[in-house]
Amino acid sequence: MRMMAWVAAGLLAAGMVTGASAQERGKGGNPEAGKTVARQCVACHNLDKPDAKPTGPSLLGVWGRPAGTDPNYAAKYGPGIKESGIVWDNEEVLDKYLENPQSVIKGSRMAFRLADPKKRADVIAYLKTLK
Ligand code: HEC
Repeated sequence: MRMMAWVAAGLLAAGMVTGASAQERGKGGNPEAGKTVARQCVACHNLDKPDAKPTGPSLLGVWGRPAGTDPNYAAKYGPGIKESGIVWDNEEVLDKYLENPQSVIKGSRMAFRLADPKKRADVIAYLKTLK
């Protein structure tokens, strides 16, 4: 019986791994839907111009940009982000960041979380269009 339990647990774990990779964190979003989600970002971020707001760096061109490098927000970034070595060109990392910034960058000053995985994928797809 114990053996069976181990096999069952193994299958369950394998299933979970397959499920997670099939979902592909942060990928396959709809940019049109993401535009609506991004209304939640505008409270703190500009999306349409390179100027930073007092509350956050500009997200225009953020896709592909190294983290913590908006020159107009340079003095305001919190600890950790510049040294993180992150480049915002990885859906999975950005997805985790939007889910819980502090889990990706310790000391992150972004006081916002987006719990819904679909909304995160959609907003990531939209951010990619902001050039
Ligand atoms: C309550 C204000 C607030 C909201 C709302 C908010 N953010 Fe932020 N965000 C910040 C702050 C502040 C930072 C800078 C973090 C730091 O200095 O550690 C940041 C940083 C970021 C960064 C990193 C930028 C860089 O230059 O490296 C990304 C990407 C980001 N936010 C995306 C989003 C998205 C997408 C949304 C909406 C779904 C959002 N944020 C909503 C405040 C906010």
